[in-house]
Amino acid sequence: MTERRQFRAIKGTRDILPPDSALWNWFEHTGREVFESYNFGEIRLPIFEETSLFARSIGVDTDVVAKETYTLENPEELGEPRESLDPKFSSLENKWNSLIARRPPIDRLDAFEGYKRQVSELLDVLEKGMAVGQVPRTPGNLQNIKSIRQNLNERIPLLLKAFIDEGVENPPDALESQAGFLTRSLARIHFTDVLTLRPEATASVCRAYIEHNMHALLGNQKLYYIGPMFRRERPQKGRYRQFYQIGAEVLGQSDAPAIDAEVLEMLLVFFNRVGLTRTTLYVNSIGDKNCRPQYVEQLRKELLKVKDRLKEDSQRRIETNPLRVLDSKIPEEQPIIEKLPRIADHLCDECRAHFAKLKEELNLRGIDYKENWRLARGLDYYTRTTFEVTAEGLGSQNAVCGGGRYDGLVELLGGPPTKGIGFAIGTDRSILSIEESGNARKLGGLAVYIAWMGQASYPTAVSVARKLRAAGLAVELPPEEMKFKKSLGLADKLGARYAVIIGEDEVASRTFTLKRLADGDQKKLAEAELLEYLESERPAKKGTGNDESNLR
Ligand code: HAM
Repeated sequence: MTERRQFRAIKGTRDILPPDSALWNWFEHTGREVFESYNFGEIRLPIFEETSLFARSIGVDTDVVAKETYTLENPEELGEPRESLDPKFSSLENKWNSLIARRPPIDRLDAFEGYKRQVSELLDVLEKGMAVGQVPRTPGNLQNIKSIRQNLNERIPLLLKAFIDEGVENPPDALESQAGFLTRSLARIHFTDVLTLRPEATASVCRAYIEHNMHALLGNQKLYYIGPMFRRERPQKGRYRQFYQIGAEVLGQSDAPAIDAEVLEMLLVFFNRVGLTRTTLYVNSIGDKNCRPQYVEQLRKELLKVKDRLKEDSQRRIETNPLRVLDSKIPEEQPIIEKLPRIADHLCDECRAHFAKLKEELNLRGIDYKENWRLARGLDYYTRTTFEVTAEGLGSQNAVCGGGRYDGLVELLGGPPTKGIGFAIGTDRSILSIEESGNARKLGGLAVYIAWMGQASYPTAVSVARKLRAAGLAVELPPEEMKFKKSLGLADKLGARYAVIIGEDEVASRTFTLKRLADGDQKKLAEAELLEYLESERPAKKGTGNDESNLR
């Protein structure tokens, strides 16, 4: 029997149907217009990249990389082997293979000790291989190496000691089972590139900048992108697993605060033009590699003092990334966080001057902003300027845009020293907020419905429909003859603004009846007059009527 189950979109993904899709297209189209007016050009990027690109740039300990990426299964089939494997590392792969595939059963303590030593040596070389990019630095590889080390150094010695204490010198089953664990963990280490669906696009832009030698081009590279991103988050209002971003990045040699300010101006001009007006811009500076490490250390020290009063996530972050504790929204943690040292008091002179100049530039442009010393952002690559825009009407997922500076990221990915700044707008949330504020434009819709009657008038109906469509109007031509009343009833239901009535009389007199459906007003027009009249009625395609003078 055939299965009759109904297919549904995967959890966290959704279909955007008409007429909503018209709003989406208009939103993205307006983005293109605004960004191009600031001399940005579009970059189209792949949807998947090497996993290690994201691990290295966004950071292995961030939620995005550690928990939320979609990494493709069967890497050996999907991934490409590393090109030009260093001979040292291909012998490593052989060694790895021999420790897995050709391991003899282990039932004696000395054999077990020998195996342990070989595994440990292999891990050392693997880690070196990762450092130079010969072994993929993926969260999976890192996790496997960490758990093998823990077993080698802690669990296995304890277990063996327990046996020896009890006078069992060679516990064959236990030895084989421990060796089996090591073998299985080793087998999970990948030597090919594993692929991940992009959770964001800044890493890809930097990869492309390096790959295409864009640093050799004149001036700053100003790029924008539009497309879906993928994060395995818990779906809720405004949070999806496939969501859409419009992003912009500036890469080059200069880190002038005027670049940061112009990027923010462009962002707000865009939000204004699409009617996303109930927003707040928050800015911060999180320092650079000269001053941030000292601040983070001090923050960690202070956090350790209050560790017991923090929840599990924050406790873990004291070790992995203390700055992320500042993002906590947990009510009980708020009074504790408010008393922590603030980055503004620890910026080096250069970072302090950069931030002061940025604020001056924002004032010059009439941009309203609030400082938020807790704005650390969830991705590791940021330096100095960070910012976020929140909008009303969204509940807890109210960030419609996030961004900041990432000087040094291109270098970290193997490129030349380069400065960078950019942002990404969440399209799903922005559109939700525009809709909730009642600012959503009524877009497009059906302009003309052709009510034709009698087979003799059909060829004229086809020809008039084609001419009106060529003039840029949305036209519905019924494919089968219908009774007059039914036909006009359908025109009304479809929301058409006009009906063009074509019957045998109209064909004979070469005039058509044009009916405005809102008020029933009717006139008879010759074909050329009809075309001219309807063309002048065509709705303007661009702009929203919001001007930019109310930026402040
Ligand atoms: P992000 O803050 O991770 O930054 O994401 C930017 C925006 O994407 C968020 O403010 C939000 O509107 C939207 N967003 C993120 N996750 C989801 C989700 N699961 N569902 C719906 N919307 C979501 C970045 O992605 C950086 N690459 C921004 C950047 C560009 N920084 C420098 N250049």
